[in-house]
Amino acid sequence: MSTTPTPPLYIESLDHEGRGVAHLDGKAIFVDGALPGELVRHSSYRKKPNYEQAQATEILKASPNRVVPRCRWFGICGGCSHQHLHESAQVAAKQRVLEDCFAHIGKVEPETLLSPIHGPAWGYRTRARLSVRNVIKKGGVLVGFHEKRSSYVADMTSCEVLPPHVSALLPLFREFVTELSIRDRLPQIELAMGDAVTVLVLRILEPLSAEDEIKVRAFADAHSVQIWLQPKGPDTAYPFHPLDAPELSYSLPEFNLTMPFRPTEFTQVNHGINRMLVRRAMRMLAPQPDERIADFFCGLGNFTLPIARRGAQVLGIEGSAGLVQRAVENATRNGLAEKTEFRVADLFQMTPEAYAALGHFDKLLIDPPRDGAMELVKSLPDQGGPVRIVYISCNPSTLARDAEVLVHLKGFTLKTAGVANMFPHTAHVESIALFER
Ligand SMILES: C[S@@+](CC[C@H](N)C(=O)[O-])C[C@H]1O[C@@H](n2cnc3c(N)ncnc32)[C@H](O)[C@@H]1O
Repeated sequence: MSTTPTPPLYIESLDHEGRGVAHLDGKAIFVDGALPGELVRHSSYRKKPNYEQAQATEILKASPNRVVPRCRWFGICGGCSHQHLHESAQVAAKQRVLEDCFAHIGKVEPETLLSPIHGPAWGYRTRARLSVRNVIKKGGVLVGFHEKRSSYVADMTSCEVLPPHVSALLPLFREFVTELSIRDRLPQIELAMGDAVTVLVLRILEPLSAEDEIKVRAFADAHSVQIWLQPKGPDTAYPFHPLDAPELSYSLPEFNLTMPFRPTEFTQVNHGINRMLVRRAMRMLAPQPDERIADFFCGLGNFTLPIARRGAQVLGIEGSAGLVQRAVENATRNGLAEKTEFRVADLFQMTPEAYAALGHFDKLLIDPPRDGAMELVKSLPDQGGPVRIVYISCNPSTLARDAEVLVHLKGFTLKTAGVANMFPHTAHVESIALFER
């Protein structure tokens, strides 16, 4: 039976998730794998009354920005969505997303745009969460990221965005897990890389047998990794072998800082871009020795300690008690205990009264999760509060929404903003913005 080919679609733009946007008979079609300026055939996998989601099945006229994806599993693995787009075009697309969000959501425009922060586009991921499934139909244990639009585990034996020494472990995980008695009770391997050690955290739903323990120790020794076991939630993870491995930490050499962390704790994923982001944030914030500064959503002190190193007094506030404890320890380790103070607080519940009770701040750094910092920015005083805010964002929509409050209600000017390509080959947009009044 022959099927009628779909009419060619002209791709007008990229949406925020990196899909090509086209229109057919007035209906928007979001096409995976298609780039602006291209003519493609498509196959829809979701049809709604006013839009469709589709996959490009044939590229009839290719964009000059189209490149051959480096990864064999591109299109199957759900990890990367942009490998078919030239790296510099990826960065430009992210910058456009940021500008669009400011214009349409925030109704604000930065006075100037910063040049994008970008670095090596491969081997950059210092953390990853791999799923493990024992699928008899597929020949046994699979270890990898989830497949695109599915909960199946991609059967992958390399990953181009993981450092090569970690990618090389992927094909070995399969045999390693297969040989364990608890192969059906080990749903996840989490990877965390520090400057001197790579840690694998095995999520185990049952204790290891004595024989398993021997095999796990042998794997760690053979591949120079430290293995941790996690019997329940992230806080229950503990080092198993070797116990004398170097400490898991990353460094910020420009600020003479070493930041130890637990493998299950939040750290920025791309250490190279993080260094550049911290440097840019400190240039924009310009902390001075006589100033008092707040670092909201401070995590383990990634921005707090550089602020303190520049001589300002700084209060770090964060929702996770574990991260606050880590931040206190890191401040002491780096000789900054006297310049820093940390508190645990749910910043989504911030009120003007709670903000006022924190005392006066000359400047703020805000680095919230994807949901943004609406309650916090709404709680800032209309007058007499901080004169400068550096806002780091992992979601341009909520940054733009919060920018609207800062600019149109709180009297700030959006001086400058730009993107940092923290996650090359994905649609993830990390950005930094400077507000002043
Ligand atoms: C994007 S991370 C930034 C962490 C840190 N600034 C860094 O660079 O490593 C966001 C932080 O917000 C914290 N967080 C999430 N929800 C929160 C809430 N409701 N109140 C306070 N902190 C929260 C997370 O624990 C996380 O540490």
